[in-house]
Amino acid sequence: MVKLITSTSELGPIRQHITAAVGFVPTMGNLHAGHMSLLTQALRDFPTVFFSIFVNPKQFGPSEDFARYPRTLEQDLSLIRSMAEQFPNASIFVYAPTDPGEVFSATDSLTISVPQLAHQLEGELRPGHFDGVATVVYRLFELIKPQRAYFGLKDYQQYLVISQMVKDLFLPVEIIGMPIVRDEQGLALSSRNQYLSPQQKVEALTLSKTLQMVSQILGGKKANLTLAQLKIQEVLQDKRWNYLELRDAQTLSAELEHSTSITLLGVYQLGTTRLLDNLQQELA
Ligand code: PAF
Repeated sequence: MVKLITSTSELGPIRQHITAAVGFVPTMGNLHAGHMSLLTQALRDFPTVFFSIFVNPKQFGPSEDFARYPRTLEQDLSLIRSMAEQFPNASIFVYAPTDPGEVFSATDSLTISVPQLAHQLEGELRPGHFDGVATVVYRLFELIKPQRAYFGLKDYQQYLVISQMVKDLFLPVEIIGMPIVRDEQGLALSSRNQYLSPQQKVEALTLSKTLQMVSQILGGKKANLTLAQLKIQEVLQDKRWNYLELRDAQTLSAELEHSTSITLLGVYQLGTTRLLDNLQQELA
């Protein structure tokens, strides 16, 4: 069963009547196989799953693509309905408010911020972005009260910010980071990939290929960090990189001397489209 809910006044009583644990998949819609992998895992874990589709204005900067962000509710619902056929006993509640007034109050003065993790890398280039993400995710958790929530690791920094918010506020929700889903060529799936021309789709492969190359140089050994950093400096000669950085996988610190795992995070820009990718590696 798939039920569409478009208002918060309708969501409240529905959620109140469900006493069993629920899973939650927050999205901004324009669904692809990456989102569907989150839904599949949620449906394996829970008979009742809430799925939100809300293009959150708070996480877009003034010059970003909020207005043109693809809104494809009918298409999204058919994908969710086909997935539901594989889980005939499941209930999926799709909360898809279009009016921000359904999610945020009219006075709306609260911001949740996790500054140490949020105001660097992606957060430095997109000031306020992760505050907007943390604020909406907090609000959605409050409305949906899930036991578990599922996030794609393509947005690795987002995953860390939300995990830290949950820890700091003692929120009773478990955060699950799900592996990146890629196309046959290795490009991480993203709603923004559709902005790419055929030529840019080919150029975009530089991103995942470079991550793989640096990861091979590193080979899980601290002793290879300098070599890997040198390769990164060489790669960054290509000005299409917004950044390519080796960081501690838990703290995002650039100081890796005591790290036991690293993350390699990159953003490669083609035209106005910024493509994100990352990988994690144990370090000995
Ligand atoms: O990852 C996303 O799609 C969004 O940042 C999220 C978590 C749904 C918050 O708007």
